[in-house]
Amino acid sequence: MRDSAFLRAARGESVPHTPVWFMRQAGRSLPEYLKIREGVGMLESCMDPALVVEITLQPVRRYAVDAAIFFSDIVLPLKAVGVDLDIKPGVGPVVASPVRTLADVAAIPDLTPEHVPFITEAVRGLVGELGSTPLIGFAGAPFTVASYLVEGGPSKEHAKTKAMMFGAPDVWDALMRKIAGISAAYLRVQVEAGASAVQLFDSWAGALTPDDYREHVMPHSARVLADAGELGVPRIHFGVGTANLLGLMGDAGADVVGVDWRTPLADAIPLVGDRVVQGNLDPTLVFAPTDVMTARAGQVIEAGRAAKGHIFNLGHGVIPSTDPDQLKRLTEFVQSYPV
Ligand code: CP3
Repeated sequence: MRDSAFLRAARGESVPHTPVWFMRQAGRSLPEYLKIREGVGMLESCMDPALVVEITLQPVRRYAVDAAIFFSDIVLPLKAVGVDLDIKPGVGPVVASPVRTLADVAAIPDLTPEHVPFITEAVRGLVGELGSTPLIGFAGAPFTVASYLVEGGPSKEHAKTKAMMFGAPDVWDALMRKIAGISAAYLRVQVEAGASAVQLFDSWAGALTPDDYREHVMPHSARVLADAGELGVPRIHFGVGTANLLGLMGDAGADVVGVDWRTPLADAIPLVGDRVVQGNLDPTLVFAPTDVMTARAGQVIEAGRAAKGHIFNLGHGVIPSTDPDQLKRLTEFVQSYPV
């Protein structure tokens, strides 16, 4: 396991082939996923260890990717501590009473392992089934999770969230500390049960200027990453539209910086410095003819050679209507590409 291509690449060591996995590989685009989820709510499925094990394994069986990503959601730990929320199909997380005041923040409990016994059970089960394939645990970064809590649901502008950040710094600070503690504890549970790497998703950090990120967000993400660092596993830090934040996201304490598809790796690599990069094929390229897709994937691999190490991925999650056979061809192409 320690010698798997994925973990070697994450540590910046030489690899037998470029490792590949896909954000959102578990779920949505797979017929076997849609079948097993019939009549089972998203959060309900995340709390059922047998389902989590099966859904996490599905893409590993089908694609033989170099890593598994734990099937869960960034809002699951909030649900586990008692926040009233749901994940609505086709919409995303919806929070019943959005967080606006210090009292609202104080009402959210800290997370302990006793809140998530089903996570420990699922990770242990998975590690047994996965053999030498590493499992990536994950959590939402404080800014991205805060956006769901403050807006009450998905948002384009994150206006209420940023209004709190600019106008109510005491509430903001308390909220970010609360979420950082929950995310760090959630990652710790996954790693202690056997996950061998973690990814911190700050999907919506691209809404911030570098100065605002540095002042209001980075210290809290840094705390989560520092905590995960103490566990001795590689830490991946990913966001969307973060071209001007990549250096800071690395400096926050990442070993691997995830890059979305809008920023060519050639531009991203000097920004992340002496770190491994992950990414970043445009997720829509799997809808192109196979030779077009693989030509572009080859360009991504070539560009990745300039980095300390490279883990191949899409530039964001697998689009639900993706053809699994095309992802299989992409996986085989990357794994057989000369290193
Ligand atoms: O395969 C994997 O990557 C593992 C599972 C995973 C899910 N969510 C399952 C899921 C992971 C890593 C996430 C992370 C997540 N959740 C993020 C960060 C990643 C990113 O895409 O930037 C965010 C922002 C969320 C919040 C969230 N949850 C959204 C935006 C949605 C999608 C809404 C939709 O249906 O379009 C969800 C729901 C969700 N999370 C689904 C899955 C499989 C779909 C649920 C369903 O079947 O209805």
